[in-house]
Amino acid sequence: MYRDPDPRFDSLGGHPVALRPLRVGMIGIGTVGAGTFRVLARNQALIAARAGRGIEVVVVAARNLARARTVVGPDVALIDDPMQVATHPEVDVLVEVAGGTGPARGWVLAAIAAGKHVVTANKALLAEHGGAIFAAARQHGVAVAYEGAVAVSIPIIKALREGLTANRIEWVAGIINGTTNFILSQMRDAGLDFAQALAQAQALGYAEANPAFDIEGIDAAHKLALLAANAFGMPVNFADVQVQGITTLRQLDVACAEQLGYRIKLLAVARRREGGIELRVQPALLPATHLMAQVNGSMNGILVQGDASGVTMYYGAGAGAEQTASAVIADLVDVARLDGTHAAQRVPHLGFQAHALHPLPVLQHAAVCTRHHLRVPVHSRQDMVAVGALLARQAVPVERLEWMADHPDEAHQVLVLTGEAPQGAIDLALHMLQALPEVAGPCVQWRVELLEG
Ligand code: HSE
Repeated sequence: MYRDPDPRFDSLGGHPVALRPLRVGMIGIGTVGAGTFRVLARNQALIAARAGRGIEVVVVAARNLARARTVVGPDVALIDDPMQVATHPEVDVLVEVAGGTGPARGWVLAAIAAGKHVVTANKALLAEHGGAIFAAARQHGVAVAYEGAVAVSIPIIKALREGLTANRIEWVAGIINGTTNFILSQMRDAGLDFAQALAQAQALGYAEANPAFDIEGIDAAHKLALLAANAFGMPVNFADVQVQGITTLRQLDVACAEQLGYRIKLLAVARRREGGIELRVQPALLPATHLMAQVNGSMNGILVQGDASGVTMYYGAGAGAEQTASAVIADLVDVARLDGTHAAQRVPHLGFQAHALHPLPVLQHAAVCTRHHLRVPVHSRQDMVAVGALLARQAVPVERLEWMADHPDEAHQVLVLTGEAPQGAIDLALHMLQALPEVAGPCVQWRVELLEG
């Protein structure tokens, strides 16, 4: 069959012919934008050697043009209107690293309509508007690449979309927010309280502009919606992710987990079950000996269970300027290589061909079945008996029931580890525990995950 020669190679030896550089327009020159600019400049030659052509930032949109000039130097055009960059005639690909969902949606859709590829690290944008954005991109035959949106430095989107394509993915579980992992590590290792640890994470540039997105689990939920879509072939479904952040966690919870031989992590889980998909972000106790429990500071870790691959694990920085730039530039190299190819030859946006994406039912909160840890404040040690008896009456399987070791601030706590039980049964048992005269204060409950492959 005759094929037109590929214009990127000469007709004799397959030697690449010089292609003009890929021209980038960038919106946002904050932490991630500046990091991207810096790494592109520093590694220019080797990036071009991999991409087969240069990658040049030609225009940047910034709110503060004077400050932006100090980052981009004299040769890059600066504009204060992002929409002009999105639709700029000399731009091949838009890099959107400004964040937010309202205006960013408009810029990205305008760039797509103008026939430009898009690279973004904006997980909120894709989690909330991914359906519309990917549909527009298909219509206009352009790529939307987003490796930097999930677990920044870890090429997890590439792993799911390309490396694991043979597998039926059973579950994905991860620590996918650097800020909260940093806070939890500082609470455990440095004895900092929550507010001090958060202030440090902000000073280090890990946190979102609004850190509530981090500490309330929303950022991890955005990322989980993207992971689940790529793992299971479902449309991006952020609205159904069950989300609980770390704002109510106390030093005491961290100490109790330690006593039981566990670490508390903010864990995102997407798992196939018989009745539907579990989609949830919650603080959870992991066995202290599990590799995931060793993921500390702003690092991220992700486990993927495939039916053929078995469990695979990915580890790397979960936040940071150049760490995110690493992913953004990898996406730019992909775009540089695919530019000019037919859309049907490219890796689909969510790993599955668009017509093969199917919505999957998401399990309700009460139906999600895991192990649990309960902490029950009581008046005296004898009250452990009443706690155990109530859990037995409620048919909650109890694996451990023990007294909390001496703690400087807290006395009289019963610690429980349960076997697997639906959340609905645990909620009912907690409600009944709370009414016992032996119980001296609010009971606390966290999930326990063994993450066995
Ligand atoms: N605020 C995010 C985090 C940045 O802490 O993980 C990277 O997505």
